[in-house]
Amino acid sequence: MAISFEGQVAVVTGAGAGLGRAYALDLARRGAKVVVNDLGGDPHGQGADAAPARKVCDEIIAAGGTAVPNFDSVATYEGGYNIVKTALDNFGRLDIVICNAGILRDVAFHNMSEEDWDKVFAVHVKGTFSVLRHAWPVFRQQAYGRVVLTTSSSGIYGQFGQANYGAAKTAMLGLMNVLKQEGAKYNVMVNTIAPVAGTRLTQTVMPPEMVERLKPEYVVPAVVYMVSKECQDSGLIIEAGAGNFNRAAIVKGPGIQPGLGELKDAEWVQANWEKICSLEGAEPMWRTGQTLKAYLAEKAAQKQG
Ligand SMILES: NC(=O)c1ccc[n+]([C@@H]2O[C@H](COP(=O)([O-])OP(=O)(O)OC[C@H]3O[C@@H](n4cnc5c(N)ncnc54)[C@H](O)[C@@H]3O)[C@@H](O)[C@H]2O)c1
Repeated sequence: MAISFEGQVAVVTGAGAGLGRAYALDLARRGAKVVVNDLGGDPHGQGADAAPARKVCDEIIAAGGTAVPNFDSVATYEGGYNIVKTALDNFGRLDIVICNAGILRDVAFHNMSEEDWDKVFAVHVKGTFSVLRHAWPVFRQQAYGRVVLTTSSSGIYGQFGQANYGAAKTAMLGLMNVLKQEGAKYNVMVNTIAPVAGTRLTQTVMPPEMVERLKPEYVVPAVVYMVSKECQDSGLIIEAGAGNFNRAAIVKGPGIQPGLGELKDAEWVQANWEKICSLEGAEPMWRTGQTLKAYLAEKAAQKQG
């Protein structure tokens, strides 16, 4: 059955261009009322312009959809409040938040300034917090919400020259891992997209024909599914783009559990390094408590015995 967003309201941050624009257009085409947020600055986070958000709203309205623009920066707490308020004031509810706004300030770590670090964290990390923190009480109260955060292969796997960006994008995984638990009881699903697409952000690193071919539209289906009521999963990292859809995960290897009987030393670790590092039989985890699995199993066995 077709996935519909009829009667639902979505906020898409950074929706004036690139991936965010493509998400907003597809959600609106499927019936969602959309808040098109975009500050309209340059790829390094300088300046502001209302034109990109307005233009995407005009496109949505011309295609028969419903949208309002919002020009706040996600990087301030007040901006996050205004973005959520724009949804509530105009449409009376909020069901979906896609935290997509982003900038880059690439430079090798030994040349990275404090400003390069802070600006990237302000948009990606504080920006995600600012919007979600204001959306969260709405989701809890109505016992429904769908969230997609945006990470990057740069954070999951690493990319030279992106220490600030990679660290900020990995923060999304930490945030998701906690919110998937806090939202579960309220039917709030929080997943993360790791996209790849030819956009303004990637045109500095991709050749022009790649930018042209890797259209944001190849990422859209994964994000749109994850913010639909049909999606009942939470806490997943999905990579999409360039004709691929796959899950990425932080997994825990089986390791060795010598128990608490005897303290081990560094030589013991050295001797067992291969087994400790092996990912054979590795599993994704749901919460931190599971890291104490072996200890808790030992205690339970002692109690029974
Ligand atoms: N394109 C890729 O291959 C790729 C890969 C990995 C991750 N990402 C992530 O995907 C997201 C979208 O990137 P894109 O490639 O579409 O780039 P883009 O530059 O085309 O779009 C990003 C949008 O975010 C807006 N924005 C920036 N700072 C903002 C702020 N403070 N408040 C509100 N809006 C702001 C920009 O004005 C811009 O329109 C980003 O989070 C990016 O880091 C992209």
